[in-house]
Amino acid sequence: MTNFQKAAIKSGAFTLPGYYYTAATIFQEEMERIFTSRWTLVGRVEQIPAPGDYFLVKLSGESMIVVRDRDGAVRAFFNVCRHRGTQLCTAEQGHFSETIQCPYHAWTFGLDGRLITARVMQDAPDFDKADYPLHTAAIAEWEGFLFLNLAPKPEPFATAFAPLIGRLPQWRMATLQVGHRIEYDVQANWKMIVQNYSECYHCPLVHPALAALSPWQSGRNDLSEGPFLGGYMDLNHASMTTSGQTTRPPLGKVDGADLSRVYYYSIFPNMLLSMHPDYVMVHTLWPQATGQTQIVCEWLFDPATMAQPGFDPSDAVEFWDMTNRQDWHVCELSQLGVASRVYTPGPYAQQEGLLWAFDQYYLEVMNEEL
Ligand code: FES
Ligand SMILES: [Fe+2]
Repeated sequence: MTNFQKAAIKSGAFTLPGYYYTAATIFQEEMERIFTSRWTLVGRVEQIPAPGDYFLVKLSGESMIVVRDRDGAVRAFFNVCRHRGTQLCTAEQGHFSETIQCPYHAWTFGLDGRLITARVMQDAPDFDKADYPLHTAAIAEWEGFLFLNLAPKPEPFATAFAPLIGRLPQWRMATLQVGHRIEYDVQANWKMIVQNYSECYHCPLVHPALAALSPWQSGRNDLSEGPFLGGYMDLNHASMTTSGQTTRPPLGKVDGADLSRVYYYSIFPNMLLSMHPDYVMVHTLWPQATGQTQIVCEWLFDPATMAQPGFDPSDAVEFWDMTNRQDWHVCELSQLGVASRVYTPGPYAQQEGLLWAFDQYYLEVMNEEL
């Protein structure tokens, strides 16, 4: 039986010093220690259903090709030719027929990364094609989500994600598909976004419509320390929609108490996962600079429901688009304030226990020996 508890803080729980949100050196360190070395959400398997399908992502300044190979496996390659380093591919997504060919001198790589042909290189001394495969990165799937890790020797995904693997089966997330997507450019540090997501202390003021559907003090958490944090809040209507109602059936095996709950988890470092009875919402955070984060928000539904005539996700999309914008606004105000010379860490409320836990884990990662 999972044990759900109210958020709580210990004495001395204060917010982070301002430089964690404003210093370029901290941001650079985060790119190395976190966004290069941790499993980071980059997309969904359904973006690349067929062999040869690919999409590009930019992570820690690296352009990466995520592709489905001929055997159906998902692979990730640095978008860098092994001849003179040229970027191989510029279209954000597409399909490779059989191979990946460099536009400069036509070195050609297989979808498994092997160098297959290198024009006239048979004349070059000591050249062996086997020595020049594409540089690879580790990629793993959980519930249809793809996580990339750029570290040469990453922590095994199964170890890193052990607390989550097999944990949330009712929603059948692997089978869902994105029904709507909105991108936001938010002038706030990525940690502000995670922290804002992790408390509902602000809900009655910032989100009156949300607070009417979900009591702001109802949050109970089953993951309250470490890289994955969250739990559920009560839902006193059928779903989180503009009307509070829904015509969509529950997802997968969602049943019983889960029909009147929304589960919220922050998955370190860049995934915010919100599971409603009838849809799932995912925020992917892409830090751009100390005070700038690109946020991709996606609404996932059961494809059978999406195939119904008249399927309309706008009740869920509009509700959360409004709520998202309310959140981004207060995050942007916080970003402005923590940059002030008079800002000093402030005391957390009991309800902000997950923020305190996030800060502790974050500091642990930032202070780890490399
Ligand atoms: S740089 Fe790619 S083939 Fe020459
Ligand atoms: Fe909020």
